[in-house]
Amino acid sequence: MTTINVGLLGLGTVGRGVATILARQTPQLASLHLKITRAAVRTLTPKRQAQFPAIALTTDALAVVNDPDIQIIVEVMGGIDLPFALLKQALKNGKQVITANKDLIATHGQALTALAAKHHVGLNYEAAVMGGIPILRTLNTNFAGDAITGLAGIANGTSNFILTQMAAGCSYAEALAQAQAKGFAESDPTNDVEGLDAAYKLLILTRLAFDLNAKLANIHRQGITTLRRADFAAADFFGFTIKPLVSARRLDNQLDLTVAPTLVPKSHPLSGVVNEFNAIVLASTNTHELMLTGPGAGSLPTANAVIADLQATALALQDGHTPELAGLAPQPSTALDQPT
Ligand code: HSE
Repeated sequence: MTTINVGLLGLGTVGRGVATILARQTPQLASLHLKITRAAVRTLTPKRQAQFPAIALTTDALAVVNDPDIQIIVEVMGGIDLPFALLKQALKNGKQVITANKDLIATHGQALTALAAKHHVGLNYEAAVMGGIPILRTLNTNFAGDAITGLAGIANGTSNFILTQMAAGCSYAEALAQAQAKGFAESDPTNDVEGLDAAYKLLILTRLAFDLNAKLANIHRQGITTLRRADFAAADFFGFTIKPLVSARRLDNQLDLTVAPTLVPKSHPLSGVVNEFNAIVLASTNTHELMLTGPGAGSLPTANAVIADLQATALALQDGHTPELAGLAPQPSTALDQPT
């Protein structure tokens, strides 16, 4: 069986997780014959190279993308403009692409999907939304004969952690400091606490759940920064918890997209999703209600989602399937009615 060579763009928290899981070579992974041959890093030192003796590290990301011996590019570097340019080149080069980059997919997912379809290669991004929860694959494979009517969930672990601590009596500032110390927050926590990180995830979910290419401006967005301890006491008194929810609901012929701290009855399962955990509830015609919950961030949970994409891509390459069937099918562009 021929080895499938993988090029990594980025060797940070998620990249290291991917390398760690692949190195374990479980029987299923061993049967895929995947090998990370090269990885692009921002700073290259002999110490860093010594940590990954089997991977050739380089600071030249374009060299990885243009390497003719590499079949799959995995982008875990973050940012938008640079990975967009690199992944466009990778797709043009006919390489399968996997990314964990939600900002990139929320912003340029449509263009990248079109490019992948044009070059008959796969573009997979399971890790971009809700880390370890296999939500995109579930949306893509479980609803062929069903219709999603709405979704609601907790898509930002940092906000959920902060609100959980505030419900237990912490101030907002104390809870944010704890979230930062634990490493859940983005490098700029503004995106987490103002709902932008969750909004990006909601855009991707909306694309797959409703086949709609919404924009940030279509989302009613409210952050968690103005909540006070007294709000949690009042919510508790009336039997509610306050959760940082994303939601998409069909209202008449329109889709209402919202990111906001929301009162959730204590009897609802989303109320029990605490700390940095994420969750999503899908409402649909046949299944009625399906809930998935799990870690939405972190090295190994997020890397696990990348590995799932690697498995699907490798199996498609091995079986000679049309590569875009490896994972997420290209979505057509559809105009979104203005939300109410
Ligand atoms: N900062 C994000 C969160 C990480 O807190 O959920 C995963 O996207």
